Amino acid sequence: MRFPVSFLEELKARLPVSEVVRGRVKLVKAGREWKGLSPFNAERTPSFFVNDQKMAWFDHSAGKNGNIFDFVMLTEGLSFPEAVARLAELAGLPLPQVSQEAEAREKQRASLLDVLDLAASYFSAQLASRAGTKARDYLAQRGLDPGIQAEFRLGYAGPEKFALRDHLAAKGIAVEAMIETGLLIHGEDIAVPYDRFRDRVMFPIADRTGRIIAFGGRALSAEIQPKYLNSPETTLFHKGAVLFNHHRARKAAHEKASVIAVEGYIDAISVSAAGFPNVVASLGTALTTDQCELLWKMAEEPILCFDGDKAGRKAAYRAIDLVMPLIDIGRSMRFALLPEGKDPDDLARSGGGRAVADVLERALPLVDLIWQRETEAEALTTPERRAALERKLATLSSEIRDETLRRHYQIEFRNRLAALFGAPRTERPARGTAGPQRRGFEPREPQSYLRQPPQLGTSLARSPLLRREPVAISAREALILLIFLNHPGLIDAYGEALAELELGSREAEALRDKFLDLWAGRRLTSNELKAELDRSGLAQARRRLESMTGHASLWTVSPEAADCDAEESLKQALALHHKMRALNRELVLAEAALAGDASEINLARLKSIHEQLSALAGIEAAIDGFGAASGRQSGVL
Ligand code: UTP
Ligand code: MN
Repeated sequence: MRFPVSFLEELKARLPVSEVVRGRVKLVKAGREWKGLSPFNAERTPSFFVNDQKMAWFDHSAGKNGNIFDFVMLTEGLSFPEAVARLAELAGLPLPQVSQEAEAREKQRASLLDVLDLAASYFSAQLASRAGTKARDYLAQRGLDPGIQAEFRLGYAGPEKFALRDHLAAKGIAVEAMIETGLLIHGEDIAVPYDRFRDRVMFPIADRTGRIIAFGGRALSAEIQPKYLNSPETTLFHKGAVLFNHHRARKAAHEKASVIAVEGYIDAISVSAAGFPNVVASLGTALTTDQCELLWKMAEEPILCFDGDKAGRKAAYRAIDLVMPLIDIGRSMRFALLPEGKDPDDLARSGGGRAVADVLERALPLVDLIWQRETEAEALTTPERRAALERKLATLSSEIRDETLRRHYQIEFRNRLAALFGAPRTERPARGTAGPQRRGFEPREPQSYLRQPPQLGTSLARSPLLRREPVAISAREALILLIFLNHPGLIDAYGEALAELELGSREAEALRDKFLDLWAGRRLTSNELKAELDRSGLAQARRRLESMTGHASLWTVSPEAADCDAEESLKQALALHHKMRALNRELVLAEAALAGDASEINLARLKSIHEQLSALAGIEAAIDGFGAASGRQSGVL
């Protein structure tokens, strides 16, 4: 809605900035101005000033300023019209009427919203009643407790054909309104319209201000199809322009400066309950441009979270093509793919907030997802295939509207291609080009690995296991695998890390894969695990692994050590491993970049990586027995 300028001026005149601000910021007089602590940053000395004469506020700590509307939008996460409505209420002014026609539309819309709200209340009363026993059991079994049920206004539609219709009719609602809101099924060959939702758990879908505009209804058993039945498109509900949980997520997203998008209703509810209220669901359809726009209103880099299956991966890849023409500086996406076979609901319920946070932290930037998609399909063994890859990347970057951003994508791809095609073949040249498909997204090394050297405990540091011996499996990898072999219980918490571990030898990969397969079937003791490995033809590999403990002073790795001690060593070894891997990868890229463009920046980048590598080498040299004498060799990392 557009407001007349005179109305906005009137509001500014009636509401001193200090009065609007005072709800949030404690102000003290400072000369002709007011001052207080910034509402945007935690601070001890006031850097927030209000000047009623200028009708403005200034926040020096956050570098922001504005008028009353800006303040309400920024601190409440509201849109402009919403901020105007809020302030009009505060000023006691009625909102200006737009036109008779618009008003009539508004009224009709309001009455349809009332119908949907009545329906939601009816469904939640049904859920609470005796008729709702089965549905309550279902929700309990899905881990959605009564508190969550109430928060999301979940409900139950009974099996009868006319229950909702009769209930609403008794309240004076016309059948036409019930049809227009999608609550009844009607049609030429249907004499009497009847309830659309029967014997389903009901999830109300609200618009971004929290008014219910549609429902999703879930069947209580797997035999009933479809699993979810949704309201049809109506004058109020346009599926592709709505996000489930938008109104709750909006405020939280604003506070956390991030928003998460998942695929399902229950996913969103579980993730929210796990401590991430800044989550929305895309209603199961492929993500639309409209939905992306809504996400970007909440955060600069929404995290799209897809199920850990083929369909999820495909959906993620499809999203690339959707967003390329839409991205801009300060407007992109990140992509989180879940462990194989899991959706966000599984993850949140099995691992809680910690597990969700882990997955989110490792979300891939758009550029990495593109790279993965384009390089994983086939081996780039011929000039034709390499040229095709290069052209594909050029086409993708050409879709970026902003000139500067486009150029940076081009540079990035050029560097990666140079590294991929031109680098010496010491390692797998770049991520995403090799390795079993089932691993899906490779983890992004958190930046911190590159900045902080991992802290090694003295017991681990002293271990001869960390020496790089010329064996099939590198010492560090052996150490990691050995910890899992002797303490298989750790696979529960570190299974994902294990699955994603980049390993340097076939043998190590075979052992790892077997660990995971066996563990997925049933919880085994260490001895059972060893017996199973032997039965699957991995006896030699296992013995080699164990023989490395023979001279090990690292007791924490032995089967007798407590799990928590073994875990400590595991964490250290993983950190070291990741850091080495990450740095080596960076090195290949940086060398290629410098070869392509001998600029100061590229030189500095290479230097910095060399410095970090030698710092790490320093740590390793400090480890007893790890120094030059043990015959250091590259390539085992
Ligand atoms: P999923 O099939 O991934 O289901 O659909 P889910 O969310 O994990 O559901 P649960 O955990 O088995 O209950 C994701 C979303 O796709 C839409 C819904 O919005 C659902 O939440 N969907 C799915 C439908 O609309 N209809 C369907 O039949 C299936
Ligand atoms: Mn699910």
